[in-house]
Amino acid sequence: MKDIHQHKLLILDFGSQYTQLIARRVREIGVYCEIYSYDVAIEHIKSFAAKGIILSGGPESVNESECVRAPECVFELGVPVLGICYGMQTMVHQFGGKVASSDKREFGYAKIELKTTSVLYNGIPDVQDVWMSHGDKVVELGEHFEVIAASENAPIAAMAHKCQPFFGVQYHPEVTHSAYGKELLENFAFKICGCEARWNPASIIEDAVNKIRKQVGEDEVILGLSGGVDSSVVAALLHKAIGDQLTCVFVDTGLLRLHEGDQVMQTFAENMHVKVIRVNAESRFFEKLNSNSDPEQKRKLIGTLFVDIFNEESSKLKRAKWLAQGTIYPDVIESAGSATGKAHVIKSHHNVGGLPEDMKLALIEPLRELFKDEVRKVGIELGLPYRMVYRHPFPGPGLGVRILGQVKKEYADILRQADAIYMQELEKSGWYDKVSQAFTVFLPVKSVGVMGDQRKYDYVVALRAVETIDFMTARWAHLPYELIGHISNRIVNEVKGISRVVYDVTGKPPGTIEWE
Ligand code: XMP
Repeated sequence: MKDIHQHKLLILDFGSQYTQLIARRVREIGVYCEIYSYDVAIEHIKSFAAKGIILSGGPESVNESECVRAPECVFELGVPVLGICYGMQTMVHQFGGKVASSDKREFGYAKIELKTTSVLYNGIPDVQDVWMSHGDKVVELGEHFEVIAASENAPIAAMAHKCQPFFGVQYHPEVTHSAYGKELLENFAFKICGCEARWNPASIIEDAVNKIRKQVGEDEVILGLSGGVDSSVVAALLHKAIGDQLTCVFVDTGLLRLHEGDQVMQTFAENMHVKVIRVNAESRFFEKLNSNSDPEQKRKLIGTLFVDIFNEESSKLKRAKWLAQGTIYPDVIESAGSATGKAHVIKSHHNVGGLPEDMKLALIEPLRELFKDEVRKVGIELGLPYRMVYRHPFPGPGLGVRILGQVKKEYADILRQADAIYMQELEKSGWYDKVSQAFTVFLPVKSVGVMGDQRKYDYVVALRAVETIDFMTARWAHLPYELIGHISNRIVNEVKGISRVVYDVTGKPPGTIEWE
């Protein structure tokens, strides 16, 4: 098997919101890449041994930020370099050209026209739409560079070094609005850097399986399985690599969606023959939650009890030496701290840190190199059901934060049924994949209704659906009125205990996506 990491690119991050997108686009064309902060120690850049380097965009101005520069070694390694937006500006500046500062941003579509032939634009039309997002722009190239493309607003929209393989583009080829962005990245990676496309789901799996086997040998591994995408893919991958040396612990909290526990068992235990210990802990969770209605306290209670139960079960597996986790690449980048200077804390997975001291489990994280979209593709390649891999996100505390205030089994049962109808109808109408997340919230207040000749006095549920890219901000989804009406009718008619359905029209901000 060819080494899938051998042909790789390095992305130096200057803090652009698009840096991870550059990495995802490069991976999509089949080339492995990693993101390092622009000020990482030079030894790391050298030892990474990339076939080419991409300098990302960033919020700084080269005329004001003296130290936000590409390390000089980048231009001395003998590998091609592509500067994007700020990356291009700092390259020009470092080679003696000039960048003009501006308070006005150029943001949105622009047309660029090629001024000369360049391998960077091989097979790309002379005139093309690109996506601009910049304030400063290059105004003088200095003696080393020449213009290869211009737009009306940016006469130096793309440039190339006269005798070295160094290129710069003012616009963002990584954004899909740039019509030939993918082709430009392909030209850079394949024609200029000489990479081969080796990065694809099948080769990622083969590589991971080999690594896992080498890493764990004959040892046994424990995995906390939640039914979410990441832990499901880890389970499938580990099972492929080490079969029965893997034991999964699945804690059924009673706060899961309709039939979710059975579905997890069916997929993993029955169909794939993975060893799964199902812990039915429903009554313990409801007992704990009985006396608490504060959202933060509920989250803490659920988290702590989950860790306790997971520990109880895993400490029975005396022979286990490894704990597997679904850490993915964005968690790794964030924990390393990004170029924006924000120090992020790594996602606190519920099963780390809480394990008893004497268990001394070593961590195995087979998805550490993968973006979420890659995790999904790997999951599909491993044969996991499409709906499991492309399911909307579900919060760790589950229905515990979708039942407002006090959590009772009676409420959870009602909510599960209503939510299942909502999801069914979203699937049927094609809206499930058009929205980013949708769910039902249980409101523990009663409202009057009529059904037939009977007066009803029952609970209220709220339907929520949002569209978002990063879950940090979101807009409420404009589901068709007819669809909302149909869902509402079905819920009130079919779910005993509900007399009224409302639709949440709050964005984030000011609301959060979940209600608690
Ligand atoms: P909010 O409600 O903060 O949610 O706007 C943003 C996204 O995060 C999910 N979420 C959680 N995920 N544990 C999780 O794993 C949690 O405690 C949690 N709380 C919220 C939420 O579903 C949405 O996708």
